[in-house]
Amino acid sequence: MRVLFVCLGNICRSPTAEGVFRYKLREAGLESLVTVDSAGTGDWHVGKAPDARTRVAALRRGYDLSALRARQVCKADFGEFDLILAMDLANLAELKRLGQGAGAAELDLFLRRYAGELDEVPDPYYGGEAGFEQVLDLIERACDALLLEVKGRL
Ligand code: 4NP
Repeated sequence: MRVLFVCLGNICRSPTAEGVFRYKLREAGLESLVTVDSAGTGDWHVGKAPDARTRVAALRRGYDLSALRARQVCKADFGEFDLILAMDLANLAELKRLGQGAGAAELDLFLRRYAGELDEVPDPYYGGEAGFEQVLDLIERACDALLLEVKGRL
């Protein structure tokens, strides 16, 4: 199974989701069975490591994001991943546009599918430290539910 997380810049939300989900897969002994990646709909930060605020907040909870590098989502991703999970509605709309006729990947809104009370992971980029903690809280919970689905599909 192959899962791609997508946000705008690929330096805050989607690399957090990639790191958290990889960690949970490793804990469950499933890392070798699931391909996990992340990408951004925008290209401003391509090649860069995750935002320092994201890395610090994640590391405090045990997730090391330092090896990740931003990339932009591309048409090939729609053939190479089974499930592409958008962090917000704008990302989902852009994925639907880009993915038309490009492949069989299932597209969905990450929190709507796995968490419940909030549909979107709020963009923390222009806010304070609390935003980065909220991103982690939301993503950790949704990743628990995603892990259950993946276990059922393997
Ligand atoms: P992300 O956050 O989409 O969670 O990676 C952002 C990162 C950068 C920008 C916006 C959002 N930016 O405008 O550069």
